[in-house]
Amino acid sequence: MARQVCYNFNVEDLENKKYFPNGFVWGSATASYQVEGGIENNDWAQAARDGRVPAAGRACDHYIRYEEDFDIAKSLSQNAHRFSIEWARVEPEEGKFDEVAIEHYRKVLQALRDRGLEPFVTLYHWTLPLWFVKKGSWLARDSHEIFGRYCGHVVEGLGDSAKFWITINEPLVFSSHGYLKGNWPPFKKNLISWLRVVSKLIMSHNVAYKKIKAVNPNLNIGVAKHNINFESNKNPLNWLLSRFMIWFWNHHFLKSIKQDFIGLNYYFHRKFGDKEKYEKNDMGWDIYPKGIYNVLIELKKYSKPIYITENGLADAVDTKRAKFIKEHLQWVLRAIHPVRSLAHASGVSPKDLGEATSNGVNDGVDVRGYFYWSLLDNFEWAHGFDPRFGLVEMNYDTLERKIRPSAYEYKKICESNSI
Ligand code: FCB
Repeated sequence: MARQVCYNFNVEDLENKKYFPNGFVWGSATASYQVEGGIENNDWAQAARDGRVPAAGRACDHYIRYEEDFDIAKSLSQNAHRFSIEWARVEPEEGKFDEVAIEHYRKVLQALRDRGLEPFVTLYHWTLPLWFVKKGSWLARDSHEIFGRYCGHVVEGLGDSAKFWITINEPLVFSSHGYLKGNWPPFKKNLISWLRVVSKLIMSHNVAYKKIKAVNPNLNIGVAKHNINFESNKNPLNWLLSRFMIWFWNHHFLKSIKQDFIGLNYYFHRKFGDKEKYEKNDMGWDIYPKGIYNVLIELKKYSKPIYITENGLADAVDTKRAKFIKEHLQWVLRAIHPVRSLAHASGVSPKDLGEATSNGVNDGVDVRGYFYWSLLDNFEWAHGFDPRFGLVEMNYDTLERKIRPSAYEYKKICESNSI
């Protein structure tokens, strides 16, 4: 079925400007443990006390300074913001919910609304209450029921303040670190346990989906899925490997869950058998903007709206960030608008192209938003505070926030809805 897409440009503009669909969501993302500070009753804080990972401590003190941070996001012309709720704050003991914590997040949501920022709320961004860990974490028999109860409770309290809910952030990433590589809590290395956790997370999401819908059927629910652009050279074994990884890493989870939209986190590409060298970010991760196009095209078959819930890089000196954002968004636009791209490639006149788009002839990918990771520099898990992902630079001694030049480049994109 053809999707009707409206663009707010004049035909003459087409040659020079590149527009995103009307109502496109522009934001940046954070997660509770990485920015809030003062959280001591979860598994990462325990692992820090045990000396196995760095401590987050007061992080960006965002739990106190969220209004200041949302003022910055607003001043950068963003119209949405993704953040997460800390499960250990809301349910510090099994089955006992802390209404003061819920009230805090209600104020956070209100602060976003007051600034015209549409909230995208993550319910679980990798950190777990200690009591849940004691019960066996995701491998506990009833973990899915427990998670569903938590999600239902939060949405009962806050569901009228946010339309977009993300149950789980990157299920395969944290589970593979925690159960296969053994470098994140709970520091296990066991393939079978990992596979069991993945299937428990699928169940957990599906239970949460039901519970949230029972509270309010109009809410939009999805996961934030970390997909990788897998490719290969001509070697058939490499090709097979890439096909397997596309199926297992990119699609198995998404195919097994109920969802109203897809949240895509894009950071990595992997070309099996490829020796080419790519430009890198401060963490040594390749910069490969075209990959976002390839993973978006792969998601088209789900026929769901897609929000890019994370994309970003560590770049302390801020010399690569503006280009990074722009180039990724150019590829996003291509995925949204193949008609336009095709026309460019084949020399079709902008006028004919304008007619095609205004007739709704567009078989592109239904991408509706983009969240840069991250609004602020923050606690980057096992790497601590060294990597600098923020549009805003943090001085961790003074807690002073300083907007980086690249943030103003992103602002231009957000306010003009174009690149
Ligand atoms: C993603 C995580 C996010 C952050 C970025 C750099 O995988 O979801 O919390 O660590 O990577």
